[in-house]
Amino acid sequence: MSFESVHVFAEFTMMQSCAKIPLANTLGLLLLLLISFCSANDNNSSKPRDKITRQQTSSYGSCGHGGCFCAPGIPGIPGSPGPAGPVGVAGSPGNQGPEGPMGPRGNKGDEGTRGRQGPPGPSGTKGEAGPPGPKGTQGPSGSAGSPGNKGDTGARGSQGPAGPKGAPGSFGRNWKQCVFKKLNDGRDSGLIKECIFKKLSDNTALRFFWTGALRIYNCDGCCSRWYFTFNGTECSAPAAIDGGVYMVYGTGSRLKNLHRVRHIEGVCEKIHKGTVRVGFWVGKCSAGNSADAETGWPGVSRIYVEEIPPPQT
Ligand SMILES: *[C@@H]1O[C@H](CO)[C@@H](O)[C@H](O)[C@H]1NC(C)=O
Ligand SMILES: *[C@@H]1O[C@H](CO)[C@@H](O)[C@H](O)[C@H]1NC(C)=O
Ligand SMILES: *[C@@H]1O[C@H](CO)[C@@H](O)[C@H](O)[C@H]1NC(C)=O
Repeated sequence: MSFESVHVFAEFTMMQSCAKIPLANTLGLLLLLLISFCSANDNNSSKPRDKITRQQTSSYGSCGHGGCFCAPGIPGIPGSPGPAGPVGVAGSPGNQGPEGPMGPRGNKGDEGTRGRQGPPGPSGTKGEAGPPGPKGTQGPSGSAGSPGNKGDTGARGSQGPAGPKGAPGSFGRNWKQCVFKKLNDGRDSGLIKECIFKKLSDNTALRFFWTGALRIYNCDGCCSRWYFTFNGTECSAPAAIDGGVYMVYGTGSRLKNLHRVRHIEGVCEKIHKGTVRVGFWVGKCSAGNSADAETGWPGVSRIYVEEIPPPQT
């Protein structure tokens, strides 16, 4: 129990002990006590209310107006507290108070987000020309230009030197001769002499001849045949090249020993180019008796060979 409540109970007890107090006064005192009790029931003990109660109590406590001089009795036992009053109506909000002192400076806030990029500034003044840079590497060669105009005809040049000697043509002359001095070959059959010739072309022909003394001796109805071969084979294109010497009477009182120069000539075709062994032979004729032959006496005998163009078609 608060101090205030004790004080009020004391006053109430004192009044009860005073029986001669007027009714009106007693009723007013009761009303005051009720108000005071309600105030006491309020949790708040404001000073002004406390003061008012004390003044009233003080005025009646003296009992000066009633003229009673009652001696204070023995204080009774304090009564039990009354029930709590109803909750009062909430007061109207007070006026806005004066502005308080400035608070302490707050902490520094977080760094703000970066602002938008500003507009481009004005262009600066043109700087001084820098020193020339190093020479660059050579660039790729350009594409070929269009052909130029045809130039003027130049002056005729001087005649050049003679060219090298060319190879013998197929229509040039290619010939050879083999000569035999004092041949005087007495055989009656067989190879007498050869003349080696280099034929340059395939489609050319070979012209050749023999010039020298041929003789048959001391026989009747006899015959000897002189002929050419090419690498040992008689010509077949178109035919063999030969010459026969025949004598019907040459013995006894008609003995004959006629060494006479004779000429045997021919052309043979279809002989391959290359080395050709041109042979001159003697033998029996296809008819007549064999004879005692003699070749190349006296004088110089020869085999002549020449490569000639093919015949007309
Ligand atoms: C006053 O006190 C009573 C108890 O004595 C309590 O229940 C009540 O809430 C209080 N009121 C205020 C406004 O403090
Ligand atoms: C109590 O009284 C004081 C002044 O004396 C006042 O400021 C306060 O608001 C009161 N409280 C209640 C609950 O009435
Ligand atoms: C003729 O014979 C010679 C060798 O004696 C040879 O080199 C040449 O090829 C021959 N010619 C022909 C056409 O057979």
